[in-house]
Amino acid sequence: MSEVVFPQGFLWGTATSAHQVEGHNTNNDWWAWEQAGRVKTPSGAACDQYHRFRDDFDLAKSLHHNAHRFSIEWSRIELREGEFDPQAIAHYRDVLAALRERGLEPVVTLHHYTNPIWLADQGGWTNPKVVDYFTRFVHHVVEELGSQVRIWLTINEPLVYMWMHYLDGTGPPGAHDLGQAMQALEHLVRAHVAAYHEIHRVATQHGWPAQVTIAMHAQPFTPCRWWHPVDQFIARVSTRVYNHQFLEAVMDGRLRLPGRPPVRLPDAHDTLDIIGMNFYGRVFMRFVPTSGGWPGIRCSTRHHREVTERNFLEWDVHPPTLLTVLRWAKPYGKPILITENGICTTDDRQRERFILRHLAVVGQALQEGLPVMGYLYWSLLDNFEWADGYGPRFGLIEVDYATQARRVRDSATRYAEICRTNRLVCEDV
Ligand code: GCO
Repeated sequence: MSEVVFPQGFLWGTATSAHQVEGHNTNNDWWAWEQAGRVKTPSGAACDQYHRFRDDFDLAKSLHHNAHRFSIEWSRIELREGEFDPQAIAHYRDVLAALRERGLEPVVTLHHYTNPIWLADQGGWTNPKVVDYFTRFVHHVVEELGSQVRIWLTINEPLVYMWMHYLDGTGPPGAHDLGQAMQALEHLVRAHVAAYHEIHRVATQHGWPAQVTIAMHAQPFTPCRWWHPVDQFIARVSTRVYNHQFLEAVMDGRLRLPGRPPVRLPDAHDTLDIIGMNFYGRVFMRFVPTSGGWPGIRCSTRHHREVTERNFLEWDVHPPTLLTVLRWAKPYGKPILITENGICTTDDRQRERFILRHLAVVGQALQEGLPVMGYLYWSLLDNFEWADGYGPRFGLIEVDYATQARRVRDSATRYAEICRTNRLVCEDV
């Protein structure tokens, strides 16, 4: 394949999240977690995008992007339970206007890992009331901002959220409890379904177009010890639970959680208009006997014979696997939006190669007839990488955190050429 010509109207851009770029998100559970010393570096001012968003969007426009994904911070909108802050709404109205003035299609995430303190204090996503709380928040946001948004992502990476916050314990509340994790997962499914219907109800009432999805984290699990039957088993089960259970629950209304009786969700049929996928690479898993957590742990990629490239966090880099996960979407017959794909690295040439090689795979997917509608690189800026702090740098644009100065990287310029021409010349790959 000498070149890839992407479909007319293909969405090109980047993705961010409020807590990772805005700065001083002080009323959510991640801020409290950071103040309790549970992360390498607190988020603090982050990239100060709360004030600099217009300049950042000028850069995105100069790089020929036509879309931008960001998240609306629940704890800013609903600082106290049931009280919605008009100033916070006005801020995000300005953000949306700034995007549209620059020809950038907003892709809006409604939940990206963080929760208002008042919700965390009530048990967060293990509390069944969270479904109604989230739906009430979504109703308010869509009523106020829905005229400016066509693509809504209800929840970012529900399985990563569950894993990170209720199994790994690397995010608040820091649980290592399979029971709590399953409770949270069921509520995440129910919250997405309720939000899906509420968004469409409000949008239809006003005559606004709307497409609703999640940003699922798509990753195959591979046995650490390729020859070990129990590693093979736990990798197979993890791949299924992690990548398919949520999709099946919200598309077919069948929620099957390990160790629990199947749950039928009567209104959970076909509640994804798009399949939103975040892809980074494979995870290698080995079986471990456990009391209460998941009977598998990720093992290092450092000595795994199948890993030929790693990022700054030693995650596996393996572009061909993107085709594997894109094919998972085929049975659902929906457009596919790559809502995140990126690399943290100190070598910008590696970042450029990463982008080119993954876009070449998108070309293969399109050639197979998979309806990929867009690609959002993670991320526009270097930003706060949760428990890993500010070490990992994913940005097309470098951020000097001491001065908040931005510097456009060479990889951003190479990506801009693809965005501008809507084609990829494969000799470069
Ligand atoms: C995720 C989140 C982002 C991360 C990015 C790099 O996928 O974990 O959506 O918040 O920062 O993926 O890890």
